[in-house]
Amino acid sequence: MSALIEFDEVCKYYQMGDTTVKAADHISMKIEKGEFVAIVGQSGSGKSTCMNIIGCLDVPTQGTYLLNGRDVGKMNRNELAAIRNEMLGFIFQQYNLLPKLNLMENVEVPLVYAGVSRAERHKRAKEVLEKVGLGDKLKNKPNQLSGGQQQRVSIARALVRNPPVILADEPTGALDSHTGREVLGMLQELHNEGHTVVLITHDNSIAVQAERIIRLEDGRVVYDGDSHAPEAVVQPTLLPEQESQTEEAQA
Ligand SMILES: Nc1ncnc2c1ncn2[C@@H]1O[C@H](COP(=O)(O)OP(=O)(O)OP(=O)(O)O)[C@@H](O)[C@H]1O
Ligand SMILES: [Mg+2]
Repeated sequence: MSALIEFDEVCKYYQMGDTTVKAADHISMKIEKGEFVAIVGQSGSGKSTCMNIIGCLDVPTQGTYLLNGRDVGKMNRNELAAIRNEMLGFIFQQYNLLPKLNLMENVEVPLVYAGVSRAERHKRAKEVLEKVGLGDKLKNKPNQLSGGQQQRVSIARALVRNPPVILADEPTGALDSHTGREVLGMLQELHNEGHTVVLITHDNSIAVQAERIIRLEDGRVVYDGDSHAPEAVVQPTLLPEQESQTEEAQA
């Protein structure tokens, strides 16, 4: 049986005049159902490119991406939208809530698109908002909440269709460290419940919360393994030259 998420030599190239930017450069990896994986790397390393491909918001220029065994690169717009709705829940750094809608209505949006009946929508939105600890604020508007609470609403919205995969792009980027930890705890909880969680971050201290780290540099995978292994958080290009030479000599 194939993995839930499978990249085989995935490339995403952009032509900028004479130069080709290799945002993703032959990336191969597999993420099994139920894993908690952080994709980490510096600015420009290709994280968002990977996120967009995993999230079926974009397709590879080369190579194959299989989601649940299906070749996403061969899908048309409608098929992409359908598999996205079925398989994925998104959490972004900016919560992307609709300011005029109350919390219930915000969380119901994905269900409206799915054609779920009004009564069922209310029931499910209420359930997930209670799950993230906002059961007493169902009728509030987003601007009446703190940043951490707004991020919890966006988690509820990601969960309301109960997708197998949760994709979080810098979910703690706009939060203070205490609130950030709460949000990470919530992702951990979703992982414990059996969701596959893919966390995108530039921050090593956040990445180590996952069980596995995939580190990108210049669109390539430079580490893929246990998040607690010492080499998981080392960024070779940032080491003083002397030290990295010594390490190579020892290896
Ligand atoms: N639409 C585009 N056209 C041209 N180049 C692009 C485009 N999108 C991304 N790139 C380039 O691809 C590379 C990877 O970009 P990407 O957004 O994936 O990085 P990132 O790791 O998410 O960075 P950040 O941490 O700053 O969000 C960068 O060099 C970027 O400039
Ligand atoms: Mg990015």
